[in-house]
Amino acid sequence: MRFLGDVLQTIFGFMLPEQASQGAHLVDDIFNFVTLLSIVGFIGLMGAMTYFIIRYHRSRGEKSAYIPHNAVAETIWTVIPTIIFLGIAFWGIWAYFELQKVPNDAMKINVTGKQWMWEFTYKKDNKEVSVSDIMYVPVNKAVKLDMTSTDVLHSFYVPSFRIKRDTVPGMKTHLAFTATKKGDYRIFCAEYCGTSHSRMRGTVRVVSQKRFDKWLDREISESNVTDPIELGSRLFMRNCITCHTTTDKKKIGPGLQGLFGKKREFSNADGVVANAEYIRESIIAPNTKIVNGFSGQMNSFAGLLSEKEIDYLIEYIKTLK
Ligand code: CUA
Repeated sequence: MRFLGDVLQTIFGFMLPEQASQGAHLVDDIFNFVTLLSIVGFIGLMGAMTYFIIRYHRSRGEKSAYIPHNAVAETIWTVIPTIIFLGIAFWGIWAYFELQKVPNDAMKINVTGKQWMWEFTYKKDNKEVSVSDIMYVPVNKAVKLDMTSTDVLHSFYVPSFRIKRDTVPGMKTHLAFTATKKGDYRIFCAEYCGTSHSRMRGTVRVVSQKRFDKWLDREISESNVTDPIELGSRLFMRNCITCHTTTDKKKIGPGLQGLFGKKREFSNADGVVANAEYIRESIIAPNTKIVNGFSGQMNSFAGLLSEKEIDYLIEYIKTLK
């Protein structure tokens, strides 16, 4: 059976995405068989028709024989297709339930669809971490997805794994798969869910168990950081470092070493002592006070950083002595 499936896959497989999960062939076998059946049926039907047109051709004016019906022929063309189509239906139902099976040792990941992103929550030793966009999974490991949605209907779809299911607010839906090849596979949202539906994509990244464990440990330890200075330092490296140094060296903006508590002189305002209030203002409305010798090139971070994040940044900047 597998051999036949492989032969058909070689012939028709170009029409389908890569097979990257254990159950993918269950779907493809049916698709390939139906394609083969359609081609054979089409050629057979057209061939027979052409043959009969030529073989039984009569010139005009001739009267055709009166044949009301043929019980044998009618029984054959009813019974045989019925058996074939019912066979395909049961095959499909069987494959469907086969794909629903979840092995007992399956790793669980919570999937949340929200306008317009996918969020993946992992648990390990009572700790949990949520990531978005990229879902890491170990290769050859059964995975069960417990899925829901926070707003509207979405549909979690990974073509290469041949899995797809709606995520519904207030309801849990499930999917199971075992990835068989390392690599990146596309996740799509397959249910129209608003303006950015088409951009609600993600990636399944299939990696070795070792790399997966390393990744998860790192994500968990990073997400459980609570030290405001450390969090501020990370925000600084992500948002500020392009223009400001942590020394007293000028870049596009002033270097910030020794800033806190120092008197600042401005080209467009009276001087002040740099305190938390001043730093907050410089982040939200950078051009209210422009430091002497600079031209005010900074854009406001209002809306890009939360109040909390600004507090973390201030805590971090305080430490730059
Ligand atoms: Cu979410 Cu479409």
